[in-house]
Amino acid sequence: MLLKGKNILITGAATGIGQGTAKVLAKEGANLLLCDINEASLQETMSLIESFGGKYPTLKVDVSKKEDIENMVKTAVDVLGSLDGAFNNAGISGATAEIAEYPDDAFDKVIDTNLKSIWWSLKAQIKVMLSQPGKGSIVNTASVGALVGKPGISAYIASKHGVSGLTKNAALEYGKHGVRVNAVCPGVIRTPMLDGLIKSGKVGSEADWNAIQPIGRLGTTEEIGEAVAWLLSDRASLVHGQSIALDGGFTVS
Ligand SMILES: NC(=O)c1ccc[n+]([C@@H]2O[C@H](COP(=O)([O-])OP(=O)(O)OC[C@H]3O[C@@H](n4cnc5c(N)ncnc54)[C@H](O)[C@@H]3O)[C@@H](O)[C@H]2O)c1
Repeated sequence: MLLKGKNILITGAATGIGQGTAKVLAKEGANLLLCDINEASLQETMSLIESFGGKYPTLKVDVSKKEDIENMVKTAVDVLGSLDGAFNNAGISGATAEIAEYPDDAFDKVIDTNLKSIWWSLKAQIKVMLSQPGKGSIVNTASVGALVGKPGISAYIASKHGVSGLTKNAALEYGKHGVRVNAVCPGVIRTPMLDGLIKSGKVGSEADWNAIQPIGRLGTTEEIGEAVAWLLSDRASLVHGQSIALDGGFTVS
């Protein structure tokens, strides 16, 4: 098992990539603090993984609030005993409009949820990890939207480029001190977020999304989870500061 006995928190764990990753990390032996703003749906994730036999407490967290993030990190240590890993994954796609029409408050909401959340998470998580003998590993969810742009979702693109930048800087500042920091950049993954974007009718149809990935299909949440599990594990000890595309070849086409 890649993560036997490791204590890891996951945000956005109620659905989508967070839920799929929770399944993989639990299978690999981790204990998990499952965090999300949608507390009721966290129970569904818990019920999907409880048979793996670890500890899987849940916590309601709004990642756009600094105090919630600080409480989340403290709770992870109190309830699990340490913080060996963190998967900072919660995010929103936000409004769809071109820049001149994009509402300022909608821009702020995306930045608070997708980027400031990572800033506050890194600050709180790194402090705790530095105080532990085993230090730690952090994985942030960016997006292929951290590597390329896409018309209509400028706030999202800006937030995810920011996540990649913070990941690089955190890696440079803390690598020598035993904390590894990386990001995953999912391509098009079948989740409720993607379903919402497709239903908006402003960013292309399902067939369009299938076609942009050279493997000819959408990714699955568990495929993201497999990469996250490896990055959080000691087996990825030389991987540091990277924003890794998990996109079926989209960004090389
Ligand atoms: N689905 C894709 O194709 C895709 C592609 C690239 C990146 N991503 C990124 O992956 C991450 C997960 O997205 P997903 O596709 O699984 O979406 P999703 O909508 O299925 O899941 C997002 C989760 O985050 C939670 N969340 C939203 N706002 C929150 C807040 N303020 N505080 C706490 N939790 C909150 C939601 O309740 C939900 O459980 C996001 O950061 C997203 O930007 C997704």
